[in-house]
This record gives sequence, C-alpha cells and structure tokens, in this order.
Amino acid sequence: MVVAPPDTIMWKNGRLKIIDQTKLPTKLSYIYCDTVEDVWHAIKQLKVRGAPAIGIAAAFGVLVALRNSRGSTSEELVGKVDKAASYLASARPTAVNLAWALERMRAVAHRMKKQTPTNIMTALKKEALLIHEEDRLLCRKIGEHGARLIRSGSTVLTHCNAGALATGGIGTALAPVFVTHARGKRVRVVADETRPLLQGARLTAWELKRAGIDVTLICDNMAAQVMREGKVDLVITGADRIAANGDVANKIGTYGVAVLAKAHGIPFYVAAPSSTFDLSIRSGKEIPIEQRHPDEVTEGLGRRTAPDRIAVYNPAFDVTPARLVTALITEKGIIRPPYRRTIAAVLCGRPRSKKKATSNDSRRREKVS
Ligand code: MRU
Repeated sequence: MVVAPPDTIMWKNGRLKIIDQTKLPTKLSYIYCDTVEDVWHAIKQLKVRGAPAIGIAAAFGVLVALRNSRGSTSEELVGKVDKAASYLASARPTAVNLAWALERMRAVAHRMKKQTPTNIMTALKKEALLIHEEDRLLCRKIGEHGARLIRSGSTVLTHCNAGALATGGIGTALAPVFVTHARGKRVRVVADETRPLLQGARLTAWELKRAGIDVTLICDNMAAQVMREGKVDLVITGADRIAANGDVANKIGTYGVAVLAKAHGIPFYVAAPSSTFDLSIRSGKEIPIEQRHPDEVTEGLGRRTAPDRIAVYNPAFDVTPARLVTALITEKGIIRPPYRRTIAAVLCGRPRSKKKATSNDSRRREKVS
C-alpha cells in the first residue's frame, strides 16, 4: 500500500498552515503562521525546513504580510512585497530556494505595479500557489529519474531529511526511494541521524517508516563502518544550493559522507530541483554557510551535554566538492560531469562558455540521461 506523504505546507482559507517539524517524531501537529514574523520564526526555528519547503513557505509568507492591506494603493502594496521579501530572505542564508521563491513574488508585484491592488493580490496568490504546485511536480519527476539508479534490493544511505517534509511533494533525495517502493521493488534505506538537530532520526526515519519503507537508523559516525560492511549500494542526499561547477551545499555532514562513499567506491548522488541551482556563483566557495546557535550542539538532546561556556562551532551546512558527486538528479534528467558544461546545458539549454554552440552539443546531450 502506498501512503500519501504528509502535506507539509497548506494555504487554507487565506491562512498559512504548516506541520511543526520540531515536534516530530512524537507529535504530528500543525500551526498557523498569521503574521510575517510568525513565518520568519517558523523558518528560522526549523518548524518548516528543507530548501524547497522554506521557499514555498516564504512565498505564502508574502501573502501573509499583505493580509491587512485593504485600502493600500498599488504602489504601497509593491513596497510591502519588497519589504516582506527582504525580511523573509534574512531568515536563512544557505538554501537558494528561499531567495529564488521570494524573487518570483517580487517580480510579479513589480510587473503588475500599474494594475489595481486587487489584481496584484490575485496575481501574487496565483504565483505562490504555482510555486507550491510546481515543486510537487518537480519532486515526482526527480523521483522518476532517480528511480532508474536504484536496482531492486538496493540499500540507499541518506543524510538529513530531503523527503516530503522538506518539499511540496514527495521530496528530492527520498523521491527515488518512494517511486521505487511504489513500483513494488525492494528498497532499503539507511538514515544518518544527522547531528545536531537530528533531521535524519526525527524526520527521515519517521517519514519512511510511516510509508512502510524498510529504514534503519544509524548515528552519523557509523556510516564508514556500515559502508565497509558492504551494506550501502548508493548514497542519495538533497541540496540547499548547487553552484555552476557542481559543488553542493547541503546539511552539515554531507561532505563527510561523500568522502566516505568515494573511499568505498559507492556512488554518491545529489537530488535537487532546478530551483536549488545557483548559476550566478562559480563554485561552492561563494555559498554562504549558516551558523547556528551553540545551544543546538550543547543542548541538542534536550539536556545539557557539554560543560558551561564551552566554545562551540556550529555551521549548519557544508560544501561537497563536485568531484565527489557521481551525478545530480534533477527534474530535467540525470546530470553527469563535467558539471560546468552539463549543468548549464541541461538547465539553460545552452553551454555556459561564450563559444558558439557546435557539434559538441550532441556530446553534451549524451551527458544527460
Ligand atoms: O537545516 P535543514 O533541516 O533545513 O537542512 C535541510 C537539508 O540540508 C536538506 O538536505 C536540503 O534542504 C534539501 S531538502 C529537499
């Protein structure tokens, strides 16, 4: 039986409703975000999290910010959209989907600025719903492309949570797993617990178990041993931002998993929609890494686990160099190295270099399967 994934984000009767992911796995509860501050805090505190999901929540967050705008002129409305977008974008810096979705909302407002306030509001609502619906479809396509990489009986190791909870659909990294399972093939998942905030243990394990998928939880520091024992066939993770050269920012610990996969000859795949690619940056060096509060490390397990006033370093993400990534699974197909060329070719339909398109185009297409 295929269990429908949970709806992480809902726009219901003009209100934004989300699963409070900080309460999982013990409680599946929903909260309303009725002010733009509520939305900002929900994103900052990881009540809603995962790159695509925070983009979707922020797009609805713009609508929330306009709730009491009756009587505003078109110019005032556009100003409010700009203000809300800048504010919401400041909640988390690494996942490019957040800025991407907000930019779409801003672009609609500016394009419509000569229209009536009612028309602007209608167009903004349509855009937020579209961002949500598009993500659902992208996840499905990622799942279908990625499922081709999973042979029946395979075990997939994943890190953090890139499932339904992190998106508007069936997830990115977990989408190929869900599709494989729905097709009646056997697939097992090893979920890294993902310290410090345990998205793997709290969310991935919960989602997969709920869907009836065979999942085994390990602590992060067990991955090497599990790989050495031959218990992992492939790794699939999500991404928060992918640079033009294929460097991947994802949850802290992903880089280590990629190094381990390389050392054990295990393919390392990254699944992400085109909204997670940032072709304006040449490499992962330019990706801002979110630093989070020390308490997440010293009190992450609900009680103090380190001495008082201990120095803590808590980067929420790391960057996996492109050379460790076997392939990128996108809604447009599977992209293989050399990424600088193939990413631009697949996502933009053109080479990134200034050279004219030539017969190389056919070779470029060969890199997409
Ligand atoms: O801090 P989080 O929980 O938002 O981090 C999430 C991740 O790193 C995911 O792997 C990534 O956003 C992809 S979600 C489809």
